[in-house]
Amino acid sequence: MPKPFDYPSKPIVAPPPTDKVAYGRYLATGKWECYRCHSANFETNNDLEPEKSAGFFGGGNPVADKANLPVVSANITPDKETGIGAWTEEQFSNAVRFGKRPDGQPLSHVMPPMAILTDDEISALWAYLQTVPPVKNAVVRVPVKH
Ligand code: HEC
Repeated sequence: MPKPFDYPSKPIVAPPPTDKVAYGRYLATGKWECYRCHSANFETNNDLEPEKSAGFFGGGNPVADKANLPVVSANITPDKETGIGAWTEEQFSNAVRFGKRPDGQPLSHVMPPMAILTDDEISALWAYLQTVPPVKNAVVRVPVKH
């Protein structure tokens, strides 16, 4: 059996929402754990140091849907060709909150619409994701069938 992780020695304190990038990192790697699905694979994630996860935010992780079929996660790094570097913040907001891609396609239920996110949270997530190193990884989307 693997040994459980040690408890963090200090409490994890959320950075102030005014520090957009730091707050966005807290949301994306802590509170909402976006990186877990959006890096290369659950098995190569580094939960203690998320930035060391293979393909950090570069997508390609086969996440199981309700029918246990894989839906590959999207590349949400700022890479212009294979990530969301050419998107606007509004397009990002529509995808994350309402499950609607810029091309009008709905996102799989595996990426649940997070309508609960506030404008400040969306804006912080967006600001933080702009600072993530771009990853070249062209993910082929699994079209939504329902
Ligand atoms: C349970 C796993 C999971 C979590 C957690 C998750 N995502 Fe996703 N996300 C996915 C999958 C899988 C897709 C691809 C869905 C599809 O192609 O229909 C996706 C798609 C997206 C897209 C659309 C990108 C594109 O090119 O179509 C964006 C933007 C996104 N996620 C952002 C986020 C953000 C921001 C968070 C955290 C607040 C997050 N995701 C958390 C699994 C997840």
